Amino acid sequence: MHSENKQTMTGNITFTIIKPHAVRNGHIGPILNKISESGFKITALKMLYLTRGEAQHFYKVHRDRPFYSDLVEFMISGPIVVGILEKENAVEDYRQLIGATDPEKAAEGTLRKLFAESMRANAVHGSDSDENADMEATFFFPYSERF
Ligand code: CMP
Repeated sequence: MHSENKQTMTGNITFTIIKPHAVRNGHIGPILNKISESGFKITALKMLYLTRGEAQHFYKVHRDRPFYSDLVEFMISGPIVVGILEKENAVEDYRQLIGATDPEKAAEGTLRKLFAESMRANAVHGSDSDENADMEATFFFPYSERF
């Protein structure tokens, strides 16, 4: 392990995905800019395609919901950007920055108000708890890819 890699303390990180339509529409830069301007440090970042199995696993808590299979197909429809963001109170502050799941209910200036197209194509994912932030970050990033 590189000496600059580190383990972040629980509570200070959240995990994000820039979803396929936002990547397709050229919104990676503007979204990362808003994230940085809002005081988050990007400590891991990469662009990738999810496999169907990975998407099913990532969203398994929603497997009984009517939107599950469409959500999985959407999430594998193009490359995504995944990242770990560090800040005090990261989970809650990032949820404020992204706004409500339904973009019509998202507050002005939030990422979803600015970049979402629908409930499903809602531009970004953000972890909903410290525990899930750790699990989601671990799913995508070994410690050798965290800085
Ligand atoms: P996300 O924060 O990634 O977590 C679960 C995802 O399911 C959510 O963002 C939306 O993309 C999607 N989702 C949640 N509710 C609905 C819904 N009612 N219809 C379609 N997609 C939904």
